[in-house]
Amino acid sequence: MTQRLVCIIIGYALGMFQTAFIYGKMHGIDIREHGSGNAGTTNTLRVFGTKAGLIVLAGDILKCILAIVLSGMIFGASHPEEVYLLKLYAATGAILGHNFPFYLKFKGGKGIAATAGLILSFHPVFLPMGVIIFFSVFFITHYVSLGSLLVYAGLMIEMVIVGQLGVFGASQAVLTEMYILTAFLTALAYYKHRENIKRLLAGQEKKTFLTKKSEQ
Ligand code: G3P
Repeated sequence: MTQRLVCIIIGYALGMFQTAFIYGKMHGIDIREHGSGNAGTTNTLRVFGTKAGLIVLAGDILKCILAIVLSGMIFGASHPEEVYLLKLYAATGAILGHNFPFYLKFKGGKGIAATAGLILSFHPVFLPMGVIIFFSVFFITHYVSLGSLLVYAGLMIEMVIVGQLGVFGASQAVLTEMYILTAFLTALAYYKHRENIKRLLAGQEKKTFLTKKSEQ
């Protein structure tokens, strides 16, 4: 239990590095008062353009990777059967820190770039799924939110399939905890995207284009 808590705390501390908010402040605005009001990559891209969006994307991906790598370094050797679970706790902490930073009165982002960090560094089997789903949805529809939501559905399904195939080398109890954690992250992402979901269903979601300034 202590290890899980330590991983969450490490993740939360790193996740609170709210790149979109910091980038916005460095350019004289609170990103949460512009565009969609979300402190994340898509809204930075919308408000400041593609280059700024890529900077924020990199920052938010890296903080989650750092949390995962650090917890692996700290607990990997002593808890080989639980190492993936502990990494997942670290990523959960990073996503919670990103979404609910206490110094911003818990008003952060939606955790998708941080989730990309999880997909990139957790285990190589998840990368093709994330890339294929996100970029095919994005380039066909130009809805980042839809791509994000479908990646989460893919992550949930793949986590269970890969876990049951024995890829993590973990006991069923540890696997079950990993599925619960992934389900929690999926539910959190859908909750944070609730307004996007309403707009998608009403055909009113804003499209995102990789231009200097989004055409929205
Ligand atoms: O990563 C967040 C994205 O899925 C939606 O962002 O600003 O369009 O609500 P936004």
